[in-house]
Amino acid sequence: MNPAMSSWVALRRRTEFRPGRSILVLGATGNAGRMAVQIARHLGADGIVAAGRDPKRLVLLTDLGATDVVSLAGDPAQSADKLAEAAAHVDVVIDYTWGAPTERAIPALLSRRTDRSAPLDWIQIGSMAGPDITLPSSVLRAANLRIMGSGQGSVTAAGIIAELPSLMTELSKGTLTVAALPRPLAQVEDAWTAPTEPGQRVVLTVTA
Ligand SMILES: NC(=O)c1ccc[n+]([C@@H]2O[C@H](COP(=O)([O-])OP(=O)(O)OC[C@H]3O[C@@H](n4cnc5c(N)ncnc54)[C@H](OP(=O)(O)O)[C@@H]3O)[C@@H](O)[C@H]2O)c1
Repeated sequence: MNPAMSSWVALRRRTEFRPGRSILVLGATGNAGRMAVQIARHLGADGIVAAGRDPKRLVLLTDLGATDVVSLAGDPAQSADKLAEAAAHVDVVIDYTWGAPTERAIPALLSRRTDRSAPLDWIQIGSMAGPDITLPSSVLRAANLRIMGSGQGSVTAAGIIAELPSLMTELSKGTLTVAALPRPLAQVEDAWTAPTEPGQRVVLTVTA
């Protein structure tokens, strides 16, 4: 629920994500990012650009709905360039990284945008690559960039709770898939460090 909720709530409460819109998921190789790709597809996204570092996890995202994948591994300037080429015209960014990748991505994307007055909703959700960015003021003047966050506080508790039943329905229907690897809580010490297949998520279970 938690990784899925992050983009479900953002796309339904922080922006108006209609079918036909396009999206970039920064940090798509993570647990929340994998769900964001699937949720964007479920909500009718036309284009879904998935960006992340882990090559084995990155290739799995096409089957989940990504229409383009971009590697954030390697030279940062080259990655930002590739990202801009693939995602310059998206309507929404779901950002799990922040920090250096975001700091490079924002100016790179906006400078490639043909219609800079077209709104770009940049929704900050996680900060895996760092808590801060530096943003030149000229970027904000030269494009219709709307930076916002999504989480408790930017969405009311009542608003988040109201989203849970519909998300649970989709999870139960199998619309959103998780490659869960159940391990008993009693084996947590081994499970914590045991290697997993790319995309697998260890889920600790407790039996009464
Ligand atoms: N606000 C909310 O409602 C909410 C809800 C759930 C989660 N979150 C937050 O969302 C974030 C992601 O959660 P998660 O469960 O998906 O974590 P995760 O499974 O560990 O995934 C982390 C993602 O960030 C990428 N990443 C990490 N460090 C990076 C760096 N230095 N440069 C570029 N990419 C980097 C990883 O890329 P690679 O694996 O490819 O290296 C991966 O795509 C966390 O900050 C979490 O707290 C927020």
